[in-house]
Amino acid sequence: MRKKIIAGNWKMNKTFSEAQDFFLEISEYLDTQNCNNTQVVICPPSLYLELATDFAAESNIYIGAQNVSYAQEGAHTGEISAAMISSLECDYCIIGHSERRKLYSETDEFVNKKILLLQENGITPIVCIGETLEEREIGIIKDVIVNQLEGAFQNITLDSDIVLAYEPVWAIGTGKSATPQQAQEIHSLIRSWLIEHYGQEKADEISILYGGSIKPDNFKELLLQPDIDGGLIGGASLNIEQFKQLISIAVELN
Ligand code: PGA
Repeated sequence: MRKKIIAGNWKMNKTFSEAQDFFLEISEYLDTQNCNNTQVVICPPSLYLELATDFAAESNIYIGAQNVSYAQEGAHTGEISAAMISSLECDYCIIGHSERRKLYSETDEFVNKKILLLQENGITPIVCIGETLEEREIGIIKDVIVNQLEGAFQNITLDSDIVLAYEPVWAIGTGKSATPQQAQEIHSLIRSWLIEHYGQEKADEISILYGGSIKPDNFKELLLQPDIDGGLIGGASLNIEQFKQLISIAVELN
């Protein structure tokens, strides 16, 4: 059975004390929940990863970084390495987020190097892919998605865990989520690509998350789609009440 994953991507938000308060409250909340097959992941800014993994050691939260360097170590001022993330016992790392692709020129080639380094260091990559509005409007969504997959997964074997996140760029932070049908169509395309390249058994184990303006009022319908295995949540993961509601929606569907 595939894991259901509710992952909060805080992006560049929250001060240290706000992060502390959030972790305290969410750990207490998770103590009262029977999460079963649902994993709750929080991806705070890297400065707070140690704080986060300290909380995770005592509770039912999993922790992810928001980015990692494509290089192993050395003269890369401002970057953090896969080995550093691993040394803090983080479970996940987001890579290829559309904000990194757009604002920091992250290419599929970089994403590919990062997958390899994360795998070598025992961290599960959350690989983000998705089309822009322009690409959707001119009808090339499927080509864009397949190209991103081909680029990211070149020479990658899947002996360890990996998670994918379909995040249409036009839905991120806009309040305009993809409809459950629009999302399912692309999730099913991604699943078929995984079957073709890694076989049915492996493809059936891989969680594919949807991301883009998830809110408590649209999440359930998205989660009910056969190939949507959770959410990568930006804005609504910053608000403790909304995030708790999203968790409870997922847990109820377990
Ligand atoms: P959003 O962000 O939920 O605020 O749209 C999602 C993401 O960027 O991962």
